[in-house]
Amino acid sequence: MASSPIHVGACSGFLHMQWISHVIDYYARRAAEYEKVYAKPERQDDLKILRDQCRDLFNGRDLLEVSCGTGYWTECFAATARSILATDINPETLEVAQAKPWEPGRIEFAVADSFSLPDFGRGFDAGFAGFWWSHVPRERLQDFLTGFHSKLRPGATVAFIDNRYVEGSSTPLHRRDGEGNTYQIRELADGSRHEVMKNFPDEGELTSCLAPFADDLKVGFLDYFWMAVYRLR
Ligand SMILES: C[S@@+](CC[C@H](N)C(=O)[O-])C[C@H]1O[C@@H](n2cnc3c(N)ncnc32)[C@H](O)[C@@H]1O
Repeated sequence: MASSPIHVGACSGFLHMQWISHVIDYYARRAAEYEKVYAKPERQDDLKILRDQCRDLFNGRDLLEVSCGTGYWTECFAATARSILATDINPETLEVAQAKPWEPGRIEFAVADSFSLPDFGRGFDAGFAGFWWSHVPRERLQDFLTGFHSKLRPGATVAFIDNRYVEGSSTPLHRRDGEGNTYQIRELADGSRHEVMKNFPDEGELTSCLAPFADDLKVGFLDYFWMAVYRLR
């Protein structure tokens, strides 16, 4: 039987707008099944380490979390952060997040494009994005970081978490574009197939992207994930 057609979002030069709408659509369709990715047995030890670190990192902070998806990490920060504004471009993923049992008053959700965040009318002393860096076209990383940082106070604690590429656990890469962005073919429960950009930066790349903005930058690698933490200059 022929496999289903692949939904492709091109990303080279000026075609990145097309890529951005493609990734939005992919995550809207994936919202209900998204958190299955956090159930992979081999990743549980690493996830526990990351959850523990994040809880400590944002203790007592006013946190802006962008591209929060279904709120997996929001749940983890909610235990200790003073307040959280968690944003995502997809109402579908936010609906899953909002349905979780939040303590009233401290946690808010809003629709926002991480590439053009609005004025939220308040400052934040912490910033976080989980598994978003890998979906930002390499040529747009500096723009994204500049916009994100502009919503945070100087001295804010900022963290990013994302995947390492692990043979046998990660979806194989099937191509690389002219900017060095890499792509996977992913299948959803409804059988639809999607070409999704997924980048796996190394330590040197993370350090050179973040160094202009960061004091006390620490980049760490577990078996399945990397984490970067710094104080915003
Ligand atoms: C890999 S998921 C990460 C979700 C969540 N942060 C986590 O770690 O579980 C990427 C998220 O980015 C969101 N997204 C895609 N394009 C976006 C954009 N331009 N602005 C904000 N969010 C976007 C998707 O809706 C999806 O929820």
